[in-house]
Amino acid sequence: MILVTGGAGFIGSNFVLDWLARSDEGLVNLDRLTYAGNLENLQALADDPRYVFVHGDIGDRALASRLLDEHRPRAIVNFAAESHVDRSIHGPEDFIQTNIVGTFHLLETTRGYWSDLAGRERQRFRFVHVSTDEVYGSLGREDPAFSEAHRYQPNSPYSASKAASDHLVRAYHHTYGLPVLTTNCSNNYGPYHFPEKLIPLMIVNALADKPLPVYGDGQQIRDWLYVSDHCSAIRRVLDAGRPGETYNIGGWNEKPNLDIVLTVCALLDELSPRSDGKPYREQITYVADRPGHDRRYAIDARKIERELGWRPAETFESGMRKTVLWYLDNRQWVRNVQTGAYRAWVEKNYAERGR
Ligand code: NAD
Ligand code: DAU
Repeated sequence: MILVTGGAGFIGSNFVLDWLARSDEGLVNLDRLTYAGNLENLQALADDPRYVFVHGDIGDRALASRLLDEHRPRAIVNFAAESHVDRSIHGPEDFIQTNIVGTFHLLETTRGYWSDLAGRERQRFRFVHVSTDEVYGSLGREDPAFSEAHRYQPNSPYSASKAASDHLVRAYHHTYGLPVLTTNCSNNYGPYHFPEKLIPLMIVNALADKPLPVYGDGQQIRDWLYVSDHCSAIRRVLDAGRPGETYNIGGWNEKPNLDIVLTVCALLDELSPRSDGKPYREQITYVADRPGHDRRYAIDARKIERELGWRPAETFESGMRKTVLWYLDNRQWVRNVQTGAYRAWVEKNYAERGR
């Protein structure tokens, strides 16, 4: 079986569901259930004997060690992290604790487990660290996309903490020989995306007749990938990636934020028109920019295509339509995540932006 961390979050829960839909190999999910962890995402697995959920922190070495000894996984896929840039600006400490210190403890625990493995078990063991394109910093409009050789130049507390974790992972390979693989992926979107992030926030705000807050001039560029394509890339890296290597993952879909918001609006105009017949784009509001906002990300995904034969299956158009339909079909899920803590975060993040 494999051990997944952070499997109750957005990408993790998509990965867990896809994994068990495709394979009979069991999966243990270790998740601390922060505000971003949601067991409702995994309700379909409640009676599945191949699936084990464990509530806990990747930094809890005694717990992680016990899990490894008990379940003897052939691989660990580390999704667990604090993931929201705006939250890292308001309060970086949790990012340092989980993304850096937590990853360090998980690496130490894994090293102990792996060192005691022998023969084929030791040979085939893998540690996959799921990271981000944000570690590379910001690109100018004409710059080539980020390759794996691009220098690290993180600009937010979030990306700096992920960069630090990537360096630790790399060092555990270089120094101890731990068979690690690091993936650096671009912006994901799709089902179960927490509505603090751009695309789900725009969908749920539009439907609730609320403003659609675009930071700055809305011309910042992100490179979007449908979440199940990220999951298939991680499975491919786990199966065939070379230990010690890093793989950039992206969908060749660079778009300015404003285009994303307009796409969401157009899809909603078609699939769930406003009762007054007006277009959703009338709800767009320009608000104060994110401090230190990276202008452009773009992923050069040629290495993973060349070496591992991976390409995304979804186009931007098909992925966005699926995503909007998912939110229209899952309004109770949205209501359930919009707790008091969620409302407090929205108030904190947007009140001071002059909404
Ligand atoms: P998320 O915030 O939706 O989920 C994070 C999960 O980790 C949650 O279930 C949370 O409870 C859990 N967690 C947090 N701290 C933990 C701890 N100390 N111990 C155990 N569990 C803990 O994040 P996501 O968007 O699903 O991202 C998953 C990973 O992918 C992250 O490492 C992120 O950096 C990376 N990534 C995300 C994107 C994206 O667009 N969302 C893109 C590239 C890479
Ligand atoms: O690039 C990969 C990264 O993508 C991941 O590592 C992060 O975990 C993930 O959160 C995401 O980071 P971003 O900061 O790019 O995502 P977010 O959805 O927060 O913002 C996307 C863009 O939209 C960004 O330029 C900021 C802008 N934005 C965001 C929000 C929430 C707005 O204009 N308005 C908003 O209300």
